[in-house]
Amino acid sequence: MSIPTTSHAFPDLSFVTEDDPKVERANLSLILDRYKDRFKDLPKVEKGWLSKSMNLYQGHWYSSSGVISIGTVLASQDAFQAHPSDLYLATPPKCGTTWLKALVFAIVNRTKYKNNSNPLLVSNPHDCLPFIENEILRNKPTYNVDSQPRLFATHMSYLALPQSVLDSGCSLVYMCRNPKDVLVSTFHFVNKVRDKSLGVMTIEEAFELFSKGFTPCGPFWDHVKEYYKASLDHPEKILFLTYENLQKDTISNVKRIAEFLGYPFTKEEEVEGVVEEIVSLCSFENLREHNQQGIKRDGLPNDAFFRKGKVGDWSNYLTNDMSQILDQITEEKFLGLDISF
Ligand code: A3P
Repeated sequence: MSIPTTSHAFPDLSFVTEDDPKVERANLSLILDRYKDRFKDLPKVEKGWLSKSMNLYQGHWYSSSGVISIGTVLASQDAFQAHPSDLYLATPPKCGTTWLKALVFAIVNRTKYKNNSNPLLVSNPHDCLPFIENEILRNKPTYNVDSQPRLFATHMSYLALPQSVLDSGCSLVYMCRNPKDVLVSTFHFVNKVRDKSLGVMTIEEAFELFSKGFTPCGPFWDHVKEYYKASLDHPEKILFLTYENLQKDTISNVKRIAEFLGYPFTKEEEVEGVVEEIVSLCSFENLREHNQQGIKRDGLPNDAFFRKGKVGDWSNYLTNDMSQILDQITEEKFLGLDISF
């Protein structure tokens, strides 16, 4: 099998056909089969959130199966080719990836889609802006050859990024979130979408796995630290954001993201309220409204990505002991780093 490469470019959602999910599932089986010899000797835990087990690779745990898993990470490292004009987003899972995808898609494509024609009004943000890890499953690349910029997201750790991405010098926006809210968000998400054969996960199990670092692409804290340090080394290339800060002042952060990615708002746009329009288009309420039904391209229900969209919901689910333990881990892991939520 030749792994599809990504030498094409531009958001045009007409490319999605009914057969694509089937093709992607078939390619996923091929990839997992092709790479199984490479990951069979990696350290493994017989625990998982969306899969039965996870493998440790380059210091991070990846699900043993699924569209974002050890197989698709290895395949991305081998096959994904960055272009100098690409723009990247990176997040640990459940840190607001869907929101960030929507915002960046809306910012970059703001002159392309007018008068209620924005694909975000009819498609899940994940179907508008692909993950690198999913792109390699596609026979037909998301973008046409001459389209610029291509927008991609990833959950991979910084050190696991395909070498061509690391070498490209492309801009990358990273976003993380209070680990206690990440834990609670992940707990709800997996119980909504995981295979029935895995059973229901309790909050105690979720806490146990999360606090020990056994999370997809985790340990969570190491994922954050790698990107944080890279953002200090390359501030012009990596913008480090938190979900909490984006919630607190969405307008300023949207301007900051646009400026950083090379798509600054003009004075006229600001006067015309273009920034506010983008914020409103991508608001939790609006995106949830447009994603109440249907499934995304990979088969997951659209509504699974819009739960509460609040800061601090952890307090409704975690005991004081759990909260204190997580605070202590966060304090120790982020000691000396200017990271707060
Ligand atoms: P909660 O489960 O706390 O509600 P991800 O996109 O990385 O999977 O993260 C999902 C989290 O982001 C969920 O958090 C979800 O509700 C929240 N979210 C999704 N869209 C959002 C938006 N437009 N604004 C704010 N939060 C959003």
